Amino acid sequence: MNDTITSPILILGGTGKTGRRLAERLTAHGLPVRIGSRSGNPRFDWEIPATWGPALQGVSAVYISYYPDIAVPGAAETVGAFARLAVANGVTRLLLLSGRGEAEAQRAEEMLKASGADWTILRCAWFSQNFSEGFLVEPLLEGEVALPVSNVGEPFVDVDDIAEAAFVALTEPGHVGQLYELAGPRLLSFADAVAEIGKAAGRDIRFVRIPHDEFTAAMAAHELPPEIAWLLNELFTQVLDGRNESLTDGVQRVLGRAPKDFSAYATETASTGIWSN
Ligand SMILES: NC(=O)c1ccc[n+]([C@@H]2O[C@H](COP(=O)([O-])OP(=O)(O)OC[C@H]3O[C@@H](n4cnc5c(N)ncnc54)[C@H](OP(=O)(O)O)[C@@H]3O)[C@@H](O)[C@H]2O)c1
Repeated sequence: MNDTITSPILILGGTGKTGRRLAERLTAHGLPVRIGSRSGNPRFDWEIPATWGPALQGVSAVYISYYPDIAVPGAAETVGAFARLAVANGVTRLLLLSGRGEAEAQRAEEMLKASGADWTILRCAWFSQNFSEGFLVEPLLEGEVALPVSNVGEPFVDVDDIAEAAFVALTEPGHVGQLYELAGPRLLSFADAVAEIGKAAGRDIRFVRIPHDEFTAAMAAHELPPEIAWLLNELFTQVLDGRNESLTDGVQRVLGRAPKDFSAYATETASTGIWSN
């Protein structure tokens, strides 16, 4: 492990799904961390570029988790501008949390590389934790998940594996200039995933495939912000079309072990009671 890190590592999205877990790992190893988010000190806000410079002062490396989503149009330019500012401030070690099969995400990766940084890219599959820390919690509690998605297989990845990979890439040598595609060990359809969660939670939870316009209307009824509604439609209509229906060796390459399986995630998470009502 690298015990020469004495300046803080800035973790953008440091209170979110992957960032929080990375911060916990670094802190547990006695490494200094600065949380980069609207609740951080100093405050970091993607929408207010004037907050970026102060957050970068004196840091040794940055974990970049963009918000709301790296697939949103314009994300690549924003991530590129941030990476260039970091390099101009002397912060060259940058890790980017990216997404698989997303044109905007892949453009952001190119922006990161072009910034001159010592880059590492974690290009991730759909997170398992979207079912327990994201927008799917509510429908799971209601007993019915209705999505405009086919039987396409997705290799859901556990965010603990992502945080562990980020920790290793930041603290051990050999990861600069590497792109890791992080995915779980098994392809599951959304219907399969919901069935596994129902089984683990001991509940009857249905999965229903609905047309896109019905999904759009349901999102409008929930008063979701327009960018989130756009994003969900994009993910379900464009990205989940089969292009990501394959396994990858990214977790094995970084961590030297197999990725965590969805059933282990479902069993552990069910035991917290989050899917019980
Ligand atoms: N979810 C997936 O399946 C998946 C898959 C592949 C890639 N990704 C990528 O992962 C990234 C994070 O997605 P996520 O769903 O896991 O979200 P998340 O990390 O759980 O998002 C919340 C984080 O973003 C911060 N945040 C919110 N608004 C912000 C703003 N305006 N400026 C700065 N920080 C802000 C929040 O902190 P505060 O509230 O304190 O600001 C919090 O730390 C996205 O770029 C996404 O494209 C996600």
